[in-house]
Amino acid sequence: MRQAFRTALVTGASSGIGESFARELAARGADLVVVARRADRLDALARELVERYRVAVEVIAADLTRSADRDEVEHRLKNEPVELLVNNAGYGAFGAFAEIPIGDQLREVELNVNALMRLTHAALPGMLARGRGGVLNVASMSGFAPSPGSAAYGATKAYVASFSESLHAEVIGQGVHVTALCPGFTRTEDGHEPHPLWLRREDVARAGLDAVEAGRALCVPGVQYKAVMPALKVLPRPLLRAAANRLWKQAADSQ
Ligand SMILES: NC(=O)c1ccc[n+]([C@@H]2O[C@H](COP(=O)([O-])OP(=O)(O)OC[C@H]3O[C@@H](n4cnc5c(N)ncnc54)[C@H](OP(=O)(O)O)[C@@H]3O)[C@@H](O)[C@H]2O)c1
Repeated sequence: MRQAFRTALVTGASSGIGESFARELAARGADLVVVARRADRLDALARELVERYRVAVEVIAADLTRSADRDEVEHRLKNEPVELLVNNAGYGAFGAFAEIPIGDQLREVELNVNALMRLTHAALPGMLARGRGGVLNVASMSGFAPSPGSAAYGATKAYVASFSESLHAEVIGQGVHVTALCPGFTRTEDGHEPHPLWLRREDVARAGLDAVEAGRALCVPGVQYKAVMPALKVLPRPLLRAAANRLWKQAADSQ
């Protein structure tokens, strides 16, 4: 059954797709909790959304790779529950695995995987007890294919897609929707050259919210990426690996 969410917590709302989630949710009338490290950007966004949409917006400045900050957000989710949790905050280090400092790559796992699991675990029991709620986890198309040049990032996104689909199956029929949003390349800063492959962040956020409201397990925004999905499933893996490697080498050479 379709659900409209009246309260939501969005991580990584200070820029990019997360900011678009916050804007779209406020336009749909939801009261918000916005989370990220840059408090100044969150404060400015909160002021604007309160003014424009007359919704309540609470700011939590938190680095979700730090356990003390994460505890605060988990505590908020347990003690003042929201109807929708959007696990959007994510980070990827690009380059050869052997050349990127291991600390950077472990921080990706900490943010993209551990924080997402912890916040989901803080929110889900209450949602199940109330028989309503939603969790929208931002994965990526890179979770479906080998990702040379961003091996750790691709692996975290494969984890998020798999974890979310399993949770979707676990809670189905209990009034709680769990959805994995898997965008392809998405323009997050204004001013980039338009390109047919690139998605607009507003469209990605809207597609993700529509999908979790409708209770879909998986959302791949954009016709160009929907068209690629069947090929990813049937192409022989050696071919896929070679193509992905070529793309990465080209991108690295052009920098
Ligand atoms: N853009 C794409 O092409 C694309 C494609 C597929 C999937 N995605 C996924 O979409 C999500 C949003 O990405 P984006 O492209 O919109 O990136 P972005 O513009 O860099 O935004 C990332 C957000 O995460 C927050 N964040 C980063 N590290 C954090 C930390 N340690 N603690 C708390 N918040 C943190 C950032 O805020 P602060 O810096 O203020 O903390 C920012 O609000 C990510 O999960 C990304 O993997 C993006």
